[in-house]
Amino acid sequence: MRIGVVGMGNVGLVTAACFSHLGHDVLGLDVDVERIELLRKGQMPFFEPHLEHLVREGIDTGRLRFVLETQALADECEAIFICVGTPPTPSGEADLSQIERLAWNLGSRMDGYTLLVEKSTVPVRTGDRIEKTLRLAGAGDVEVVSNPEFLREGSAVGDTLSPDRIVIGSGSERATKRLLELYDPVIERSGCEVIITDVGTAELIKHASNAFLATKISFINSVAEVCEASGADVETVARGMGMDKRIGRSFLRAGAGYGGSCFPKDVAAFEALGEELGCDMSLLRAVQAINDRAVGRVLDKLRDQLWHLKGKRVAVLGLSFKPGTSDLRESPAMKLVVNLLDEGAEVVAYDPVAMPSAKEVLPPQASFAASPLEAAQGAHAVAVMTEWKEFEELDLKDLRDALDLPIIVDGRNLFDPRRAADLGLTYLPAGRPPVIG
Ligand code: UDX
Repeated sequence: MRIGVVGMGNVGLVTAACFSHLGHDVLGLDVDVERIELLRKGQMPFFEPHLEHLVREGIDTGRLRFVLETQALADECEAIFICVGTPPTPSGEADLSQIERLAWNLGSRMDGYTLLVEKSTVPVRTGDRIEKTLRLAGAGDVEVVSNPEFLREGSAVGDTLSPDRIVIGSGSERATKRLLELYDPVIERSGCEVIITDVGTAELIKHASNAFLATKISFINSVAEVCEASGADVETVARGMGMDKRIGRSFLRAGAGYGGSCFPKDVAAFEALGEELGCDMSLLRAVQAINDRAVGRVLDKLRDQLWHLKGKRVAVLGLSFKPGTSDLRESPAMKLVVNLLDEGAEVVAYDPVAMPSAKEVLPPQASFAASPLEAAQGAHAVAVMTEWKEFEELDLKDLRDALDLPIIVDGRNLFDPRRAADLGLTYLPAGRPPVIG
């Protein structure tokens, strides 16, 4: 099938590359000229495992092309996926202006039957608005369906080719059939579940899923606060909870909180939407407040150990919002660096992949090291903010020897407290009893 994908960001580019890998002909559209030129050369605008290989394969086979003109999609494609950004407005609502512009643009150019597929996370009832706009713009035979993505950065290719489920929100059999045809190779190889529902319900499945996962993280971070106050160990509490199949083990890792391009934005948007509809969304307000406190708790521990942060040298290990990605959006680590600099601390940061982009956005006072041990050299404390494997494999003895003061604040519970105690370190994990060396 001939497919168009609008927006060559994390979701769009992965979607385009995976569909072309599955044998479809794909046109990837973006307004960013530099990005399209880069992609035409097979180069990646961001780090995502296995993506470069699929993009190059698509270019070489001729099944994946990158364009700047909406007209090409309107002329050639039987299904067009909307993967443009829906960033938050200051009040937390999703900004849908890019989607609206696209609907006007496409609507005035389309003729013949086209399926428009919402993949970007959007508030419930956005599908109706898109359809209305397309018709106002002059589109003839067009249908809008919702097909939310559930891909995680760092494992986006695997999540797309072998998803847990495919959600199709559609108002007609014709549209559902076309989308099922498109996904046939994915369903065949992964045996995943398919849920077919109306557009609004599909839109809600996405928002509710992300809000629930964020709630799980904030729940365990709230338990971590109680553990710290009572001397209990959140890792064991989470393990004990997770053994109950109804609860499950995943997304119960306590620490410096969630970040990224989805959870913070989607939780805020879902809250704003519910409120607009007259619903009580206090649960999600609490989820966000707990998450905001999580970085503050790392900062408090540093302050508690070092008294004043002014003039203190702090090594920050990890800058991306999670391992396996260079994405810095809403990263707890970046918030910590900014807070430390604001309080007059000297920050030396290290991240295996995110430093080039961090250099562009952090204040010039932040400095960077070529390795975790170089960052720790002569520092008064180290804060671990992203659970990169490279940090997990560090020898705590080497870390202790590099530090000026043997203080580790572990925002991701990477290290073994007993080993820290044996080495005489002061080790402050999240929601676990501290080790005071
Ligand atoms: C998320 C959803 O998982 C995905 O389905 C959706 O499509 C997009 O948003 P992503 O943002 O890539 O994906 O990251 P994810 O792996 O879900 O982690 C999000 C954040 O939660 C990270 O900052 C991570 O460090 C944090 N996290 C995750 C925890 O703090 N504890 C956990 O137990 C799990």
